[in-house]
Amino acid sequence: MLEVVDTIDALRERVGERRRSGHTVSLVPTMGALHAGHASLIERARRESGAVVVSIFVNPFQFDRVEDLERYPRSLDTDVDVCRGLRVDLVFAPSVSVMYAAPQMMSVDVGRLADHLCGRYRPGHFQGVATVVLKLFGIVQPDVAYFGEKDAQQLAVVRRLVTDFNVPVRIVGVPTVREPDGVALSSRNLRLSAAERQLAPCLYSALRHAAASVDAGATNAAEVARDAATLIPADDRLRLEYLELVDPDDFQPATIIAAPVIAAGALWVGTTRLIDNVRCIPRIRSREASMIDEPTGAAR
Ligand code: PAJ
Repeated sequence: MLEVVDTIDALRERVGERRRSGHTVSLVPTMGALHAGHASLIERARRESGAVVVSIFVNPFQFDRVEDLERYPRSLDTDVDVCRGLRVDLVFAPSVSVMYAAPQMMSVDVGRLADHLCGRYRPGHFQGVATVVLKLFGIVQPDVAYFGEKDAQQLAVVRRLVTDFNVPVRIVGVPTVREPDGVALSSRNLRLSAAERQLAPCLYSALRHAAASVDAGATNAAEVARDAATLIPADDRLRLEYLELVDPDDFQPATIIAAPVIAAGALWVGTTRLIDNVRCIPRIRSREASMIDEPTGAAR
């Protein structure tokens, strides 16, 4: 039976009960407006864990633009129904005053992980994400937490957060869920007009093009990115904020591609900002491949 709680004490009590009856506890942190992308995280948690907690909290401190926060869709009743359908045990839906009972004095500095991509264009965003995620981990104390690969830089920040602060939570990354035309599911897609929605697939096409170039042997990251960006049509409603190839662990720009990289992009479609990313895996060139077979095994 699903329970919805909105205070930290109630949440801890309910989680404690589950833990005492021998259940492992998993957490799926969300900002609500749940869609099939969130559902795939929840389904995975349901399969792998005894008690599933979904948090629904639109965290004001990770929004760099007031209008984005104000326009963010909120639909708690529907979200609770979705969670019930997915056999979630607990929904934690705190208010801002519960989450930030005393004005937050401290926050997580995410270091150079935020130097590029969204970190560069959304000042303070990942600091806000890392801080609220650390609070949620402290509140729920889950054994495992699920995050989407759709927000690849966020996933890297969270992985590093638990490493650097020795938080005893296992982080699981879940593949991106897409519409049939390739557009990654996102709560912000709801804001697109029908005409804008038709333009949206070009971001994924451009990122896939980058992956195809890398697969075909291209190694110059700047050239691959420049070439991929040409797939964004010249249209007044479209503005490419970035399309870059970065290292999957530290999110620093790739130069020469010799190992897997992430091609990530942010595209403004009208007044809506969409992000997406694709992993690019370089083909092992024949010389390297033959070296792998050498007796020393010292191919790299
Ligand atoms: P939100 O945007 O609601 O996303 C919640 C989780 O769902 C994130 O881990 C995100 O990566 C994942 N997700 C979103 N769209 C997805 C898709 N199409 N496929 C797979 N996973 C998808 O991300 C946040 O909330 C917040 O920053 C949060 C982590 C909750 C901290 O406030």
